Amino acid sequence: MRIRFNEETNCFMLETRQTSYVMGLIDGKYLGHIYYGNKIDDSLNDCLDADYALRTGESPFTPDKKLGEKVSFMDCFAMEYPGGGVGDFRESAIEIRSKDGFLGCEFLYDSYRIYNGKPKLSGLPATFGKDDECMTLEITLRDEILDLNLTLLYSVFDDSDSIIRSAKISNKGESPVWIEKMYSASVDMDNERYEMITLHGSWARERHIDRVSLRHGKQSVSSIRGISSHQANPFMALVGPHTTQNYGDVYAMNFVYSGNFIAQTELSQFDSVRMSMGIAKDNFCWKLEPGEEFQTPEVILMYSNSGIGGMTRGFHDLYRNHLIRSPYVKKPRPVLINNWEATYFDFDEEKLLDIAKDAKECGIEMLVMDDGWFGHRDSDNSSLGDWKVYSMKLPNGLKALVDKVNDIGLKFGIWFEPEMISPDSDLYRKHPDYAIRLPGRTPSQARNQYVLDLSRKEVVDQVFEQICEVLESANIEYVKWDMNRPLCDLGSVDLPSDRAKELSHRYMLGVYELQERLITRFPKLLLENCSGGGARFDPGMLYYSPQIWCSDDTDAKERLKIQEGTALVYPLSSIGAHVSVCPNHTVGRNTPWAMRGNVALGGTFGYELDITKISSEEKNIITDQIDSYHKYSSLIMEGDYYRLASYSENNIYDCWQVVSKDKKESLVVYNQVVALPNAHSKWLKMSGLSENARYKVHIEKDMDISDSEQSGEKPDENVRIYSGAQLMYMGILIESMFGDGRTVRFYLVKE
Ligand code: DGJ
Repeated sequence: MRIRFNEETNCFMLETRQTSYVMGLIDGKYLGHIYYGNKIDDSLNDCLDADYALRTGESPFTPDKKLGEKVSFMDCFAMEYPGGGVGDFRESAIEIRSKDGFLGCEFLYDSYRIYNGKPKLSGLPATFGKDDECMTLEITLRDEILDLNLTLLYSVFDDSDSIIRSAKISNKGESPVWIEKMYSASVDMDNERYEMITLHGSWARERHIDRVSLRHGKQSVSSIRGISSHQANPFMALVGPHTTQNYGDVYAMNFVYSGNFIAQTELSQFDSVRMSMGIAKDNFCWKLEPGEEFQTPEVILMYSNSGIGGMTRGFHDLYRNHLIRSPYVKKPRPVLINNWEATYFDFDEEKLLDIAKDAKECGIEMLVMDDGWFGHRDSDNSSLGDWKVYSMKLPNGLKALVDKVNDIGLKFGIWFEPEMISPDSDLYRKHPDYAIRLPGRTPSQARNQYVLDLSRKEVVDQVFEQICEVLESANIEYVKWDMNRPLCDLGSVDLPSDRAKELSHRYMLGVYELQERLITRFPKLLLENCSGGGARFDPGMLYYSPQIWCSDDTDAKERLKIQEGTALVYPLSSIGAHVSVCPNHTVGRNTPWAMRGNVALGGTFGYELDITKISSEEKNIITDQIDSYHKYSSLIMEGDYYRLASYSENNIYDCWQVVSKDKKESLVVYNQVVALPNAHSKWLKMSGLSENARYKVHIEKDMDISDSEQSGEKPDENVRIYSGAQLMYMGILIESMFGDGRTVRFYLVKE
C-alpha cells in the first residue's frame, strides 16, 4: 500500500496490492478523478499528468481557454466530489443551503495530509486497522463564499484491494448552513458497456441478485425506510458485459451504514458514468452551526479484475479483518436452537427446558429464548419497551431458567427489540412522547408497534439500563437484537423545525450508540443483529455484531437465493442460517433434512424447530449435522468463498465452495434443487486449489430418512484422488440424482 502526491504531475496516487486510484489537480483548484483499476506505477508513466489525463484541452467543453466556459467544463469534468448548483447538472455529491436559503456550493482545493493509520469516525461504524496496516489521505477543499472546509478521506490497507472513502465538512464561518445532501463517495469513469449489479428483495426473500445493462440517465437502489431494508441493500457493482465469477472488471461500492441510503449510477450524455453512494437525500437535512462538523459514513470501494468472485473475496476478507470487531469474528459459533418457529409466543419455563434437554442430547450448544418472554406478551400486540420478565410464563424468574439451562449443559441467549415501543406498554403509557410521531397525528402502526425516538439521549439511556438489568441478572451469553418495522411519521419532540430532517440520521446514531454501549459493557456477548429477518444486513451492523439473521424464510430452497445474494458481499461467518422443520412455515415446502443441513452449513449453523416433536431418527440426523458443522466450521468461517453454480441463474442446482487460505483443505456443497428426467451428468469445475497438488476427495452423499425411503439408496461415502488442475479445469462428474432436494458434499484434503 502506498499514498503519495506528485508535485510535478499534480496527481494523487493511492495504491493497494493490485489497484491504483488516481486523482489530479487542475489549475491548483479542481480535483478530478483520473483512474481507478489495475495497478499502474506513475513513476514509469511520462504522460500521467493531471492536465493530460483530465482532458482539459478537449472540445466542446473548452472552447477557447484551458478550462473554458464554466458550465461546459463543469458538466463533463470528472469531478472527484461534485458540488451542486454551479454548473454540473449530473448527480452532485453535496448540496449546501446557505442562511439566505439558496443552494449552490463549489469546493476548491486547499491542502492535503497523508499519514499512517486510519481515524475512527465518531459515533459511526467504520473499518479499522493498526498504524502499520493502513494509511490515510485527507484532501481538504474549501468553499470561500460559504466559509466551509470539506475534507475527503481515503484509506488503504496493506492486505486489501479496497479504498475506503468518506467526507467531513466543517463550518468555519459565522452563520449556520444546511447540508441538504452529502454523499460519502462519487466516482466518475468512462462507460465500458457496464452492467449494474444490485441486491433487491422483500420480507422473506432478501438480497436476490439483479443485473441490468446501464441506460442513459440515472438508475438507483435506495431505502428511505430508516433501515437499510429488505427491499434494497446498500451495495452496487458495475461490471463489464462479459464479466463472470472468474473473469472481468468489477467496480463495487458498499455502504457502512444501516439507515437510509442511495446507490446510484448515472450514464451521461458523453457516455461517462458517475457512481454515487451515501445517505439518501430524502428525509435528510443537517444544520451545521459555526464551528460544527458533519462526518459521513464510509463507503468501501472494491475493484476486482478477476471477476465477481474476486470482489466477493475482497469484501469477505476486509470485513473479517478490518470491520467486524467481535471476539467471535473467526471463531466457530455455538450451535444454537431458537424457540421462535418451535413455539412462537406460546411457551413457558417447562417447554423451554424440554427443548433444552432434547437439544443437549443432540449436541446443540445454546438455547435462545426468542420473542414473548417479557411484559405480558402473548402476541405481537403488546409490551415492547417493558423489558421485565413475564411472570406467568417464567414464574421462577430469568435467573432460575438460565441456571437450569446451564445445568443441562447449554448456554443461554435472549431476544430483545430495543428500538420499539408497543402502544400497550407501561413505557408508552408513561412516555407517549418516546415514540417517533408527527405533531397532532396518531403515528402509523406496523406490527402493532411504534418506533422509539432514539435520537434522544434520555430514550437511549432508559433502554440501555433496562437491557443491562436483564443481562446482569443471569448468565446470558448471546443477544438477538431484532427490529421489526420501518420508520415513518418522522417527528421528534426534541428537534426544532430547522433540524427536523435530522431525525433519521440521529436515530441511526442513537442505535449505534446503544449497540456500542452494549458490547463495551458486555465484551464477551455474542450479538446477532436481525431486522424482521434480513432488513439490516449491512456493513454498519457488522461493526457491532459478527452475525446477522439473514431472513425469516428458513426454507432451504428459498435460502439458496437469499444466501447466494448475501454471500456476494458478506462473509459466510456473518450469515445467520438455521435448519427448520418441514413443511416450512413460510412456504409450506418439504425439503429433505440433508439439504436443509447443507444449506444452513453456509452460515452460522443452528436450529429453529420444536425438537421435542421430532423422531429419534431425525434427532440422529441433527447429531450428524452438528458433527459436520464442527468439522467444517473453521473452513467455512475463514476460507475463501467461490460461487461455482447459481440456482438463481439455472433454476436447477446450486454449488459453492470454500478453500482454506493455505489451499490444503476445501469443502464443496452441491444442491440439486429439482431432479430432471433423462438428464446427463455434468462436470463441476472447482476453484481456488493448487494446480499441482493431489487432493483426496471425500464424497459425502446425502443421507436421511425421507431420502432413503424415497429412493431406496444407501448412504454412501467415497474417497478418490484428483489433481488440483483436474478438479479445476476438467472438473468432477456430478450425476443427476433421483428426487428433488438432493445434496452432495466434497471434502478435499491436500495430500
Ligand atoms: C423477526 C425475526 O426475524 C424472527 O426470527 C423472530 O425473532 C421474530 N421477529 C420475533 O418477533
